[in-house]
Amino acid sequence: MIGLFDSGHGGLTVLRELSKRFPDQALVYYGDHSNAPYGDRDAQEVVDLTTAGVTQLFDLGCRLVLLACNTATAVACRKLQQDWLPISGYADRNILGIVAPTVEVATQVPWAVTAPQYPQKYNTDTIGVFGTSRTVASNVYPEEILKRCPRMNVIQQACPSLVQGIEEGWPEVQLAKRVGTYASALLENAKDKVPERVILGCTHYPLLESLFRSALPDGTRLLAQPQAVGDSLEDYLTRHPGYVTPLGVEIIPVRLLTSGEPGAVSQTLSRFWPDAPLFERIPS
Ligand code: DGL
Repeated sequence: MIGLFDSGHGGLTVLRELSKRFPDQALVYYGDHSNAPYGDRDAQEVVDLTTAGVTQLFDLGCRLVLLACNTATAVACRKLQQDWLPISGYADRNILGIVAPTVEVATQVPWAVTAPQYPQKYNTDTIGVFGTSRTVASNVYPEEILKRCPRMNVIQQACPSLVQGIEEGWPEVQLAKRVGTYASALLENAKDKVPERVILGCTHYPLLESLFRSALPDGTRLLAQPQAVGDSLEDYLTRHPGYVTPLGVEIIPVRLLTSGEPGAVSQTLSRFWPDAPLFERIPS
């Protein structure tokens, strides 16, 4: 069983993609709604909450957990993989993040290649990154992109209120206004360059993709993080078939779990994913 973890609804944008691609895989999603948003929390809190969430998914039987959250990936993924997992009692399991596949698509350089190589070495594109305050403060996207493409220009813009707006179900005009403000700030930072590509570096933001599309110049391409993550997971499962649910095992349809109030949380969900299963409370 593969687990997906996010602070709330955002990782559903990734889950939707994975459930289409891997209809034979048992997928379970855990949204830590009672602690969302993570993006304004300090780094240690995000690490602690992510560790607790991953532990719950392992205890439910997941052998692989994908952090379907940029904030959790940016702050906690490496720490969990390197420091926590080996001593956690779950050393036979694994944790993956979503920054690596996104950087691979943004740079066209494999994650394993960490030094600039021709022709990417000479790439001078401008790339915009929208994210939560915590993801932007972690600097993970500029660092990882510039390691591989040192001449690229990476501009970041934090969008502090968007996750809250999505989770609370703000009206579209209110969300559009905020997206417009953040997009203008990013473009102002880009000076006279139109960014070639933009990363929606928070899994909640694809839920507002059309608003970002209208607020950005036509020449700017939005990178599709859920697809990048799907491609990367497909490749990972081919190389690590031990994480694939064996054929013949009865697949439980996708399950959505929450630490929040399932009724209220499912209501917001139906705005974005009308035929999704309802959330259930995560077993304690
Ligand atoms: N979906 C999370 C992300 O990708 C949102 C974080 C939050 O809860 O603020 O960053």
